[in-house]
Amino acid sequence: MRRKKKELIPTEASDLLLSHITRHVYNKAIDDISRLNKYKSFSEEVYGEFNFNLMQEIIATVPIGQNDRFIDLGSGVGQVVLQVAGQTRCVKSYGIEKRMDLHNYATRQNMT
Ligand SMILES: C[S@@+](CC[C@H](N)C(=O)[O-])C[C@H]1O[C@@H](n2cnc3c(N)ncnc32)[C@H](O)[C@@H]1O
Repeated sequence: MRRKKKELIPTEASDLLLSHITRHVYNKAIDDISRLNKYKSFSEEVYGEFNFNLMQEIIATVPIGQNDRFIDLGSGVGQVVLQVAGQTRCVKSYGIEKRMDLHNYATRQNMT
């Protein structure tokens, strides 16, 4: 007899748990934080990261539903991509990043 496929339980991680998980994954993947700041000043490759709480406010203000795809153009190491994947029900959360070193870090966070 065939076993029934398990249904996904529609629950979400609490904000605190998600914040903890993303910070943990980040700390594991980004082994040399000083590399993030190796860019030419005032160039397109200037790097900075969105704050978790600020992104949370944006997510609360701009509804991202189950028919939406989220794209972070200039996604760095992918923190925003990961947060949106964890805090919304979007179909898919994508990141596009031109700096290969940052892209590689995003890959280490398993988000590409
Ligand atoms: C200020 S950082 C933001 C990183 C990320 N969104 C976050 O908030 O954590 C901007 C990023 O955009 C990237 N970027 C700039 N122009 C780009 C382009 N045309 N295509 C892809 N990435 C680009 C830069 O390399 C940089 O990593």
